[in-house]
Amino acid sequence: MTMQMHIFDSPQQLVASLSDELQKLSELKRSMHIALSGGSTPKRWFDFMAATNFRESIDWQHLHFWWGDERCVEPAHQESNFGEADRRLFQKIQITEENLHRIRGEDAPQEEVARLAADMQQQLPMVNGLPQFDWVLLGVGEDGHTASLFPHHYDPETEQMAVVAHHPGSGQTRISITAPVIENARRVSYLVLGASKREVVKTVLESPEQAQALPAANIRSKEGMTEWLLDADAAALLPR
Ligand code: 6PG
Repeated sequence: MTMQMHIFDSPQQLVASLSDELQKLSELKRSMHIALSGGSTPKRWFDFMAATNFRESIDWQHLHFWWGDERCVEPAHQESNFGEADRRLFQKIQITEENLHRIRGEDAPQEEVARLAADMQQQLPMVNGLPQFDWVLLGVGEDGHTASLFPHHYDPETEQMAVVAHHPGSGQTRISITAPVIENARRVSYLVLGASKREVVKTVLESPEQAQALPAANIRSKEGMTEWLLDADAAALLPR
């Protein structure tokens, strides 16, 4: 289990580096299963790839995209994590439907949790009795949540592979993969941009005792590498 941190001068440099990584994965010419984060941070990445020659240079047929969590809304809704990725990127590249494993936010949550768990077990390699992603990308909320695993409202040792959750602020119903599934991944990358995240980044990376209740401070790959990819604004309070 290794932990790394990379600070990029700008969001543009961070998303360019991520795009290079994705291209390298696609060049391995085998199916790679990647769980994307939701919220606003990855939108810059999707827009960047759609606007550059990564659109053609990435061999998309080898990449399977999943989501770490989804809001329980229709894909057409602007809150939909899949919907935003689809509108910003997937509709603009050559990728088949079979490679997009969206969480069906429009369906009954508990039924969708069961379907998602079965789908992960069917499509992903099983390691340690759990589905194993090649790469899980995660965002961090200012409260230290990640995916839809919120402080004091998630079970780090659950037997479940997916759960129904509720955003503590808005009450919005969500579906999330669980901490054990994330921790079974070969690579976990936290993508964190912007000055609004600098306090939570400092707490998570510099004050472990304060951060012990925060999912983003506790959830890391047990099978491989965990990394924090930050822009300078998000890293502003870290010692240089
Ligand atoms: C979601 C996410 C969530 C997100 C963080 C950061 O569905 O909202 O998966 O965990 O990554 O809340 O969100 P921002 O990128 O919008 O700051």
